[in-house]
Amino acid sequence: MRVLFVCLGNICRSPAAEGVVRTRAPDWDTDSAGTGNWHVGETPYPPMQKAALARGIDISDLRARQFRPGDFDRFDLIVVMDRENLEAVERQRPMGRTTPVKLFTDFGPEGAGDIVPDPYYTRDFEGCLNLIETCADGLILSYGTSPRQS
Ligand code: 4NP
Repeated sequence: MRVLFVCLGNICRSPAAEGVVRTRAPDWDTDSAGTGNWHVGETPYPPMQKAALARGIDISDLRARQFRPGDFDRFDLIVVMDRENLEAVERQRPMGRTTPVKLFTDFGPEGAGDIVPDPYYTRDFEGCLNLIETCADGLILSYGTSPRQS
């Protein structure tokens, strides 16, 4: 399974999602990207790195990059954190590409909310990671842990 996680800056939510999923489904091919370009080349935001590491999720090796239309060809599934990400990604869909783009919360339990709020603004890194871990479990359950090249 090749899955790309997308948020706005690629320094908080999507690298955390990538870190959680690659730890729980090590046979998956994971990556993350931001729709914005402000943080390209940077490590994940230090408070998010620290909160993730406290849960055994080391994301210090990740570096931010910007989402690009070619990502539609490289992944089986694109998972976004909120509706703005969804719109920004869909605007870049090349003609004829059918790669699904889904909200991460589609894989969470009913009532968990319909977006992953941005902790860069809310400062709620723990709540963000709780939601990411729950949605990651649902995602992995949905697609299985063996590689699929759909
Ligand atoms: P993320 O959070 O989308 O979860 O990585 C953000 C981090 C930085 C900015 C926006 C969102 N920013 O505008 O700098």
